[in-house]
Amino acid sequence: MKTTKYSISIKNDDIQIASLVLYTVTLRSRKLACIEEVKTHEDHRNKGHATRLIKIAIEQARTLGADVIELCTRYPEFYTRCGFTEDGNVRMRFGLNSGHVIKW
Ligand SMILES: CC(C)(COP(=O)(O)OP(=O)(O)OC[C@H]1O[C@@H](n2cnc3c(N)ncnc32)[C@H](O)[C@@H]1OP(=O)(O)O)[C@@H](O)C(=O)NCCC(=O)NCCS
Repeated sequence: MKTTKYSISIKNDDIQIASLVLYTVTLRSRKLACIEEVKTHEDHRNKGHATRLIKIAIEQARTLGADVIELCTRYPEFYTRCGFTEDGNVRMRFGLNSGHVIKW
């Protein structure tokens, strides 16, 4: 499995306005992309910067040969507007420091 990380950002006079991280993961039979750490500077929100970055990331993932882009978010509405769809999977978590004892 090979993972590659790409940082994509919009800057103005060297000040970072918006950014995200795109990962590609090459599995045995397919190439998966993931988007993480999407953020826009508080003073520059609601001007379309994050939407523009998502579009750039989608095109980059396509150019890199990914089959699909996956992400986890608490704000699915934002990504729905960018063309993402919910896949019906339920995200679950096991906290390794939770102290939970497994009784098999
Ligand atoms: C979410 C975030 C990246 C949006 O950045 P942005 O550059 O303002 O986004 P855009 O201008 O492209 O899009 C703004 C639109 O998204 C909507 N939006 C913004 N934050 C949203 C949220 N948390 N949930 C749903 N919609 C949201 C806005 O209402 C706006 O909609 P409108 O155009 O209909 O008014 C920015 O608010 C941010 O950095 N938040 C803190 C970090 C964060 O929560 N990141 C995780 C993102 S999933």
